[in-house]
Amino acid sequence: MVRQHVNPLSRLHQSVEPLPPPAELFADPALPLHLDIGSARGRFLLAMAPLRPGRNHLGLEIRRPLVEAAEADRQREGLTNLRFLYGNANVNLPAWLALLPPGQLELVTLQFPDPWFKARHHKRRVLQPALLLAIASALAPGRELFLQSDVEGLITPMRQLVEASGAFEPAGPGECGPQVNPLPVATERERHVLAQGGPVHRSLYRRTRAPLPPLADLEARLEADGGGADNRQDVAPA
Ligand SMILES: C[S@@+](CC[C@H](N)C(=O)[O-])C[C@H]1O[C@@H](n2cnc3c(N)ncnc32)[C@H](O)[C@@H]1O
Repeated sequence: MVRQHVNPLSRLHQSVEPLPPPAELFADPALPLHLDIGSARGRFLLAMAPLRPGRNHLGLEIRRPLVEAAEADRQREGLTNLRFLYGNANVNLPAWLALLPPGQLELVTLQFPDPWFKARHHKRRVLQPALLLAIASALAPGRELFLQSDVEGLITPMRQLVEASGAFEPAGPGECGPQVNPLPVATERERHVLAQGGPVHRSLYRRTRAPLPPLADLEARLEADGGGADNRQDVAPA
């Protein structure tokens, strides 16, 4: 049985192996890269990769059985521009992203991350200031970060964090919004939420040329704004 949630702060998921470099992952490692954080069973990228043969796609997921099942599907389908890796985004990505050739990272998607509703669990949420800065450092101007959630109390602090960095501009409502998904494939969670008639909150951001603040400054800005990614507002599960 696959666990519903794992605690990314547990010792098991803190002492993960480094991710292999992109040169070891794809048939053509020089292609632009789409990184999907929290790729779960992988159906989103298994559908995206054939639609975008000119891009590599990497799904990073902390639940190992899901990674193994997604990788088995990928191999069966012979997709060489796609890989799924086990890892903890907060532990693995800062160092891995820093090694990417400049300009290679084209798109980062973070879709329906675990909400961790209780205030004392907010630090388990994946989009923390250090990860946002690592993503922003690896994205060249014009490259994109796409966020989705059905939980307003989660998308709000994610947006506050991105905007507090001062390094992104949001796409207009014609490009992305509750009724407009800029991507051609819905994730598993997205399909489930839409089938239930639930809301989907979406934000597409483009990296600007603005320099990034030091981590301590970003955290101080969030604190001054009321908490940001780790805000103290508690949200009851629906
Ligand atoms: C609610 S699911 C959404 C899955 C998929 N993105 C979708 O929209 O259908 C969130 C996923 O993120 C994974 N996850 C949570 N924390 C993570 C972390 N620190 N690093 C990598 N994956 C993580 C979870 O195991 C889970 O599969």
